Amino acid sequence: MKQLFIFVCSFAIILTTGSVLVSALEKQDDLSLPTGTMTLTAPEHSQTKMSPVVFPHSLHLKFSCKSCHHEWDLESPVKGCASSGCHEKLWASPPQDKPSGERKIKSLTGAYHKACLECHRSQLKEQKANNKQKTAGAAMVSQGSAPVTCEACHPEPHAEIVNSPDTLPIPLGALTLTAPEGVEPKRPSVTFPHSGHFDYTCQTCHHEWDGKSPVQNCTVSGCHDQLESAEKTRDINDPKNSRYFLAAYHKACIQCHRSLLKQRDRLEKSGVLDDTILPEYGPVACVECHFEN
Ligand code: HEC
Ligand code: HEC
Ligand code: HEC
Ligand code: HEC
Ligand code: HEC
Ligand code: HEC
Repeated sequence: MKQLFIFVCSFAIILTTGSVLVSALEKQDDLSLPTGTMTLTAPEHSQTKMSPVVFPHSLHLKFSCKSCHHEWDLESPVKGCASSGCHEKLWASPPQDKPSGERKIKSLTGAYHKACLECHRSQLKEQKANNKQKTAGAAMVSQGSAPVTCEACHPEPHAEIVNSPDTLPIPLGALTLTAPEGVEPKRPSVTFPHSGHFDYTCQTCHHEWDGKSPVQNCTVSGCHDQLESAEKTRDINDPKNSRYFLAAYHKACIQCHRSLLKQRDRLEKSGVLDDTILPEYGPVACVECHFEN
């Protein structure tokens, strides 16, 4: 009886996971990520006082995409901030001539100043706190360069407009992760919903990525290129196994899923049952990741 229950459960898991992944596999288009610098301007035909803002997109890719593209669904094309329905007006409309719902849509200037400046100010604060902690006599850490003054973003005379065409193709949807060449796999390959993980920063997994160069595979030589565990230890947390591909994958994937599950259990035990508050988590059991397609 118990065996039947387990069979039914794992079958249900395969069915549900399978259907989610099939829909993800249908839209496999790459995302074209701008990795250079772009110039942010007011919408055409608006009266402006300040110079356009030169914005290095790639320097900001250590943050999660959603810290700026807050309405992005992680799959569809990314919309410009001034797209219709978003921050399309340079300034907020006066209260009297628009219904309140429409007024609430934030102006482009308001949205940019809030997003850009709030983060830059908090970066500056953090750096100052860090510098204070350094003992006297130690070399001053560079103040970094997140601008907070008007002229730093709107320079006079105007900075040259740059819109570098560099982009990087980013695979959306699901990727199939297989054991590297030279390994006789004991388990089926893993279907990994890549863009389903873009709530996290890219560097959560691509920890050596600089935000603009091509992204390396996990198992390229010099990275997680070892095909077997170190002698005498199969512990994935042993630093001797950091280049062992299985340890790298299992450490990254399973530890995050497990810690989310633990958080969830803790919250549930303390009486929180609202599914919208409880953290989502990914699979932790072998067959939930390694299943035959
Ligand atoms: C610090 C803020 C910030 C972060 C973080 C950020 N972006 Fe952007 N991104 C922008 C701004 C601002 C623009 C210009 C939007 C515009 O022109 O209206 C932009 C433009 C884009 C565009 C071009 C959109 C178009 O109009 O064609 C894409 C695609 C894009 N970002 C994807 C991403 C992805 C993917 C990530 C995460 C890896 C990311 N961005 C992280 C601020 C950010
Ligand atoms: C989530 C935090 C965050 C947000 C949001 C953000 N920035 Fe930044 N920005 C930074 C950090 C951190 C740096 C310093 C980067 C470095 O030096 O590596 C920086 C640096 C810069 C620089 C200087 C780059 C250089 O060449 O030294 C400019 C210009 C800039 N940001 C513009 C913007 C604009 C415009 C926006 C809004 C569209 C914005 N930033 C939003 C964190 C942020
Ligand atoms: C972190 C960068 C940043 C800083 C600092 C900043 N702005 Fe802006 N500002 C922007 C962006 C981005 C836009 C929208 C794009 C544009 O209009 O060029 C904008 C738009 C504007 C606009 C509307 C467009 C125009 O040219 O009339 C005004 C006015 C403005 N800013 C004034 C200021 C003033 C005054 C300060 C200093 C108190 C300041 N900004 C500081 C990024 C910044
Ligand atoms: C969160 C997803 C995930 C879970 C859960 C998971 N694995 Fe893996 N595993 C991977 C990934 C990703 C790889 C690397 C790609 C590959 O080899 O298929 C991998 C690789 C392996 C490999 C080396 C390749 C092979 O097939 O010989 C073995 C063995 C393995 N896993 C066994 C297990 C066992 C046993 C469990 C349960 C205790 C488990 N995995 C749980 C994701 C997972
Ligand atoms: C949860 C982990 C995770 C996150 C977060 C993540 N990726 Fe990935 N990504 C992977 C894995 C695993 C692969 C497959 C690597 C391999 O085949 O060795 C991959 C593959 C890629 C590739 C293809 C590399 C190649 O072989 O050409 C690119 C490009 C990429 N990711 C970019 C990004 C960007 C940009 C972000 C942030 C928006 C991101 N990834 C977020 C795990 C992640
Ligand atoms: C930093 C945390 C984190 C890391 C690292 C991570 N995941 Fe996840 N994963 C999640 C969360 C959260 C979810 C649930 C999100 C959802 O269902 O939308 C998830 C869901 C999944 C799912 C189930 C998706 C579905 O549609 O049911 C799979 C499969 C998965 N992850 C595989 C992996 C693999 C393989 C890796 C390693 C390459 C990995 N994850 C790394 C956080 C993570």
